Parts: sequence; C-alpha cells; structure tokens
Amino acid sequence: MLIKEFKTPLSGKSVFIGPDSKEDILIMAIESSCDETACAIVKNGREVLANIVASQIKTHQQFGGVVPEVAAREHLESINLVIAQAFEQSGVKPEDLTAIAATVGPGLVGSLLVGLNAAKALAVTYDKPFIGVNHLNAHVCANYIDTELEPPMIALLISGGHTQIIKVDSYLNQEILGETIDDATGEAYDKVARLLGLPYPGGLNLDRMAPSGNPKAYILPQAKVEGKYDFSFSGLKTAVLNLTRKLEKELGYIPKEDVAASFQECITSTLFKKTLKAADDYGIKQIVLGGGVAANSEIRKKFFSLQDKGYKIFAPAMKYCTDNAAMIASSAYFLANTMDSLDIEVFSRC
Ligand code: KG4
Ligand code: ZN
Repeated sequence: MLIKEFKTPLSGKSVFIGPDSKEDILIMAIESSCDETACAIVKNGREVLANIVASQIKTHQQFGGVVPEVAAREHLESINLVIAQAFEQSGVKPEDLTAIAATVGPGLVGSLLVGLNAAKALAVTYDKPFIGVNHLNAHVCANYIDTELEPPMIALLISGGHTQIIKVDSYLNQEILGETIDDATGEAYDKVARLLGLPYPGGLNLDRMAPSGNPKAYILPQAKVEGKYDFSFSGLKTAVLNLTRKLEKELGYIPKEDVAASFQECITSTLFKKTLKAADDYGIKQIVLGGGVAANSEIRKKFFSLQDKGYKIFAPAMKYCTDNAAMIASSAYFLANTMDSLDIEVFSRC
C-alpha cells in the first residue's frame, strides 16, 4: 500500500496521502527554486486544477542570465499573487485542500526560502500537513500529469543544473544509474547559446535556430567517460568555442545555424544513446523525459521515434517541462523523496 500518514501542524490531526488513498487528495504546491514563481493545485497527483507561473525571463534577459538576489526579490513580489490566482483559477477554497507542498531544493537558496516559507505559513494558517519536495524528483513526476503512467521506467532528467539517468522501479524506489561529471545539459545549451550571441533563455533560442542549420556541418566530440551511463559536456562546450574561433578567422563570420544544429545533434544523440542503453540493459521498455531540456524539439523527436520499435515514451507537456508547481504537487502525492517536518531547511545542491 502506498499511503503515508501526515500530521496537521496545529491540531495534530492525521491525514493520509498517497496513490492508494480512497479519498480525493487536493495538494497546493509552490515552486520558487530559480526564476519562476509558481503555484498549482493538483487532484490525485495527475489532474491539474490550477497552474500559475510568473516568469522572470524579462528581468534576467538584460543580464544574460539569472541574478540570484534579483530572483529572490522578484519571488517576494509575486508569491502572494500566484497563490491567490491558483485559488481563483481552481475555485478551490483553502479549507478544501488536503496538504500544502513546496520545493525544498536543489536551487537558489534565497529563492527557495520565499516559496518554502510561504508554504509553511499556509500550512500553519489552515492547519494542513506540509510536504517538502525535491525539485529533481518533481521533474520526473511531471510525466504523471494527465497520464496513467506507472513505473517501472527509465527517466532521463535534463535540466539547467542536472543530467541524470534514473531507474524508477516503483513510485518510491529509484536508483541513479548515471549523471554528468561536469556541465548539465541545460548549462551546455545556455553556454553554447551565449557563444553564438543568442539571448537568454539560451537553450530555447538555440533549439529554435538549429532546424535552419545542417546538423552534419561539423563533427563535434562525444566525450568518453568511465561510467557507462555518465556524461561529460564541458569538452563539447570548449570544442564549440574553438570551432567558432576557427570559423571566424577563416570565413570572417560564424555560420551560427550550422554550429547550433551540429551542437544539438551531438548532445542529443549522446543523451539518446546512453538512455536507450540503460533501458535495454535493464529490459525496461518505458522511457520518460523530464526537466527544462525535455522541451527540446530534437530530443523529443529522437525519443518518440522509438515508439515504432515497441518502446513507450513519455514527455511532459511543454508547460510541465520547465519549472512549474504542478509537478511539485504531483511529486508530493506520489511521496518519493518527500520531507514532512516544518523545521526543514532549504538546500542548494543534492
Ligand atoms: O528544469 P528547468 O526549467 O530549470 C532547472 O531546474 O534547471 O531547466 C532550465 C534549462 C535551461 O538551461 C534552459 O536553457 C533549458 O532548460 N531549456 C532548453 C529548452 N527549453 C529550456 N534547452 C534546450 N531546448 C529547449 N527547447
Ligand atoms: Zn527545474
């Protein structure tokens, strides 16, 4: 049975949460780990009743990346508004909620504190259990939204700060099979985008540019790493830097579209090959994508092409790939890596 007992903070009442609960579970969640202030209300881990995201893209665009102090201040300005809008959009009243969840980490400490403290305050005010959520786990759980997906599955988590291949045996049990030993996938995208002079958010803009270039124009290196499911992308970033310098010198300009397409081909085929190897090695036919880079058109194309070969592929809808609170609520409901003490502190790294 996958169900866990939580206590309400004031009256100490027992509340049971999990996929085996017979009651409907309504979770409000808050996400503020980086540059989106988000609040959502999700029923039974899969049905989104409200999903509000206040993006800070415009603010950080002028700096070419996220400035932590500015992000924290913007979260403070938006947090009450996104909570109010989530209640309004869903028509749910605070007393109808089963629990309040929030991202605890990893992320920017000043930003995380804003969301976590708001969630704790709501939990105490309305006497609802508090559930702390791991942001990375939530990116994988985004695949449960609007689907009937059940483990086992191999998850490829590709975000701005992380790259992992995870074997998800059940809702609760998972094992990290491999990860990046240096740059994360999103980080590599953002750094290469900056080299090409593309504006923040780099990954998305590079993805938009790549289809107009030739992915075979330049052969870039796929790093050899010891662990068979591990990755290394810092050499790739340096190779792109050297290539752009060479092209600039030889041609007097950089064929940006071709460089973008060649980089995208190199990084997505590495991710694809290793994830597929993990799935085949463990005999698991279900593969799910998660994290901001799961929104990437080429990565989705590569993985979804496996459906003709007997694999089941899941990727969250675009709005649930990049940071959002619906995935936090879903993660709280499915219980893996959750924390329930009001004393819990934010953490920046895993
Ligand atoms: O998961 P996420 O929203 O935040 C973190 O938890 O890190 O991921 C953000 C990352 C950024 O590096 C961003 O450039 C990248 O996801 N990203 C993309 C695309 N959309 C977002 N990378 C490649 N192609 C995209 N379409
Ligand atoms: Zn994220």
